[in-house]
Amino acid sequence: MTTYIGTATSRVDGRDKVTGAARYAGEYDAPDLAHGSVVTSTIVKGRIRRIDTSEAMKVDGVLVILTHENRPPMADSDKAYEDDVAPEGSPYRPLYDGEIKFNGQPVALVLAEDFETATYAASLVKVDYDEQPHVTDLERQLGNAVALDPPAKPRGDAAKAFATSDIKHQADYSVPIEHHNPMELFASTAVWHDGKLTVYDKTQGVQNVQRYLCGVFEAKPDEIRVMSPFMGGGFGSGLRPQYQVVLAVLGARALKRSVRLVLTRQQMYMIGYRPAMIQRIQLGAKPDGTLNAITHDATTMTSQYEDFHRNETTWSGLLYKSEAASYAHSLVRLDLPTACDMRAPSAATGVYALEAAMDELAVALKMDPLELRLKCYSDSDQSTGLPFSSKNLRECYSQGAEAFGWNKRSFEPRSMRDGNDLIGWGMATGIWEALQVPITVRITLTGNGHAEVACATSDIGTGTYTIMAQVAADMLGLPIDNITVKLGDSTLPPSPVEGGSWIAASVSNGIVTTSNAIRDELLKMAQAMPNSALKGAQADDVVLTNGSIMSKKNPRSTVMVADAMRHAGIERVTQEKATKFKKGGKHAHNTHSAIFAEVKVDEQLGVIRVTRLVGAVAAGRILNLKTAHSQVMGGMIWGMGMALHEETLIDHRFGRIMNANIAEYHVPVNADVHNVEVIFVDEQDDIVNPMGIKGLGEIGIVGVPAAIANAVYHATGKRVRDLPITLDKLTRDA
Ligand code: MOS
Repeated sequence: MTTYIGTATSRVDGRDKVTGAARYAGEYDAPDLAHGSVVTSTIVKGRIRRIDTSEAMKVDGVLVILTHENRPPMADSDKAYEDDVAPEGSPYRPLYDGEIKFNGQPVALVLAEDFETATYAASLVKVDYDEQPHVTDLERQLGNAVALDPPAKPRGDAAKAFATSDIKHQADYSVPIEHHNPMELFASTAVWHDGKLTVYDKTQGVQNVQRYLCGVFEAKPDEIRVMSPFMGGGFGSGLRPQYQVVLAVLGARALKRSVRLVLTRQQMYMIGYRPAMIQRIQLGAKPDGTLNAITHDATTMTSQYEDFHRNETTWSGLLYKSEAASYAHSLVRLDLPTACDMRAPSAATGVYALEAAMDELAVALKMDPLELRLKCYSDSDQSTGLPFSSKNLRECYSQGAEAFGWNKRSFEPRSMRDGNDLIGWGMATGIWEALQVPITVRITLTGNGHAEVACATSDIGTGTYTIMAQVAADMLGLPIDNITVKLGDSTLPPSPVEGGSWIAASVSNGIVTTSNAIRDELLKMAQAMPNSALKGAQADDVVLTNGSIMSKKNPRSTVMVADAMRHAGIERVTQEKATKFKKGGKHAHNTHSAIFAEVKVDEQLGVIRVTRLVGAVAAGRILNLKTAHSQVMGGMIWGMGMALHEETLIDHRFGRIMNANIAEYHVPVNADVHNVEVIFVDEQDDIVNPMGIKGLGEIGIVGVPAAIANAVYHATGKRVRDLPITLDKLTRDA
């Protein structure tokens, strides 16, 4: 029964959020709360020679200043610092020793009676260093790149096929370092109760942080509980534990009292980022648009201590029909913190390069860019040969094109205008993986028709509370107001981090598994009643609806749940079940989208406005039209930022970020956003998982940067391959 699933249900936590009742990690109070402020390194690489805290300690209200010399004990093996999603390498240890690995690294934690005192005292801490030479510039270190194993097997002889193709396109595309900039600052409040800690942390995975803290502090599992009931945006920046949570716990252990630590926006820039990358694409085709060869080489960056990388090149391998394909991937190690996942990691960037290159190939072929995509359309994953569990990209193209009016596009660049503005229309394809993870859900149903659904997953702002309530309400046959969702608490049944667009599918199917166990238990109770209307019914023959157990075959055969429980003499039913998903199998699992963009470019000034964006998305079953729309629209707007605004700039002489604030790191604001239309294309999928859900968190951004870049070319006849496309690049003579 689906009363709620698929509808535009408003957020069940909406009222709490807009009234301020929802509390975030830096908003928890505790008696005797101490406040922290972090002192960060001003050099990139070297060692701390001396830290002088004497002036800072004289400030009234300062409690203690922790450095690597006087901090409480911490574990000393790499293993202890490896969180669930850590890349290969030797994880960074906050305040562990005197070694400096990046500019902005924490070197001291000042704890005081209030935040202002801590911040002021932190400014008085003096640090002397022995400095070593550093490297932070990706472009100047390309010669030192290390080759990685390509993520997918090559097919055919791509070099030869490219060389002998009639129509060829080759170019390099670059994406700068970008930062997540969630609205909520990174924060942790460690509440001390006689040696045990409850840590409110801004994180996408409470159990990941809990296990990590137990490792770092050699604590027993019941000594540290991690809570994150609300999160003001994560986008990947909260997948791994951030250093402030370690410092907050260090502080609490040193003072034996509660500590709150909120980082500054500037300090957040030294935690994680989307790695800059340079990608070379070669496309070889026949004059009719049939692809002969795709090659995709990507060079990305990481720290000196961990090899973070994702598979930028895989998307090119699987998306389009091409007999030959090859990939290369290399990594440059720099004196910066380790890069991390940022919305649609590897697809936002890899698909940008591929889809901009496809547009350039279409120009070379004198072919409509959409027609080229249709010519190369593949019903199977080209890398593995596996068919898709479902793929309604064709319908995305056609519904998106229809809504946009694509058939009115003139082929030649600079051929459409509106007064001083050149008009450009561009399009691109988007793709992401439909992932799912093992998860455990506990449901407690009480005789008064109320249910509590519990799982340690997070709601990173995407609407997880709401979809969990919708699915549970439908599965248990209760009004949504009778469902209480508990999440974001490490003591709840296990869930991996919320990321990769995998939680909606995972937790929804998890709720189905556990609801079915509740149904089975209730059916047994109903059948134990004298003259039961459900005598002989099998579990699969009944559903829970309207507070009753009802036969699907004969809807008049019902037993009220309350009656069954009363007869059994119990007041509540609890089930906790783990759900696992088959990995791999005989199908590829992907979501797809088609993005259409209109830009208007002022011919004299080069100012670019994105006046229309249409995104048509095929992502299996959509659980909630309202939150899904918000998700995809947010992703599309972020794609505008990636195309036109976002860029983290480093002064390489000092290895320091110059625009570590949201005044100088530009993101789209309301005035930049005009018409954004989101279309969900029907896509029934009986294979991917029982509910047919594929996830939506990442797909929104994918394809948007290329669609806009392609529109800018169509408007101006000028191809800027180096993101972001700023007006200086556009107006500069080639
Ligand atoms: Mo997402 S980048 O896995 O939060």
